[in-house]
Amino acid sequence: MKTILITGAAGDVGTHLRRELAGRYRIRASDLRPLKKIAQETFLRADISKMSDALRITKSVDAVVHLGGYSVEGPWEGILNANIIGCYNVFEAARRNGVKRILFPTSNHATGFYRLDQTIDHRVYPKPDSRYGVSKVFGEALASLYADKYGMQMFCMRIGNVNPVPIDKRRLSILFTPRDLAQLVTIGIEHPQIHFEIVYGVSGNQRSWYDNSNAIRLGYKPQDDSETFAAEVLRREQPGDPTAEQYQGGMFVVAEEIPNPAPLPKKRPARSQLANKGRKK
Ligand SMILES: NC(=O)c1ccc[n+]([C@@H]2O[C@H](COP(=O)([O-])OP(=O)(O)OC[C@H]3O[C@@H](n4cnc5c(N)ncnc54)[C@H](O)[C@@H]3O)[C@@H](O)[C@H]2O)c1
Repeated sequence: MKTILITGAAGDVGTHLRRELAGRYRIRASDLRPLKKIAQETFLRADISKMSDALRITKSVDAVVHLGGYSVEGPWEGILNANIIGCYNVFEAARRNGVKRILFPTSNHATGFYRLDQTIDHRVYPKPDSRYGVSKVFGEALASLYADKYGMQMFCMRIGNVNPVPIDKRRLSILFTPRDLAQLVTIGIEHPQIHFEIVYGVSGNQRSWYDNSNAIRLGYKPQDDSETFAAEVLRREQPGDPTAEQYQGGMFVVAEEIPNPAPLPKKRPARSQLANKGRKK
């Protein structure tokens, strides 16, 4: 039986996935915060923004499902530590420990500035809608580097919304049910010919914005379609932000945690002042 490390295991996706994969793999769950163990899994508490922790948790595993990180838009410092530094640490620690395969949950927000009337596949260039989206593009780029430079097997899932049921109209297009998630993750772990792949982590939704032919090519046969819930969801739907409603990323295209960068000072300080400042340091 393969041993799989799941980082961010205490989170929403990790909790669904651990339940779905219990008994199929030997699971090593890891997170910054404690979790309630499922079945036979082991738990290692770790902060992935520290390389020493990343090295400790990635020892002697067959694959890493790297879910740990900042999962919404937020201040740059949080995104930087968890999603940029944390992602680098996990990929690099896996490489140093000889782990060949990594599954990375990128996001619909890596391509959130595509419009709702566009159908996109795995070959489009990213159009992130947030700092969070940018961090996911970073993870995809890092995965590409580790595949090409170090021969690692990198499986990037641009996840829509993991949920047993769609919660609003937008999620009708990006629902990803736990059993479809488990199927796609299993393909990511088991497929014999993974080098660097991008697939969309969504169920077989009729209202999808994605041409998910790359996942289908790798054997993905989603079992669920959000259409089952469409009438009920649409009956409840309230009008939303008019800008957000034009783009696939929804509210992330308008969400803002920090004000725009401060305007440049009107007058440049004199050279002598700059020199003094430098010396004081
Ligand atoms: N939930 C979704 O539908 C969805 C959609 C697209 C992408 N994703 C991605 O999937 C992953 C999991 O999402 P989620 O919804 O379960 O998020 P979540 O916020 O529920 O869980 C993330 C987990 O990561 C842990 N974490 C954060 N910083 C950490 C650190 N420095 N070290 C160790 N652990 C740390 C948190 O404690 C948390 O348990 C994330 O990378 C997210 O961006 C999720």
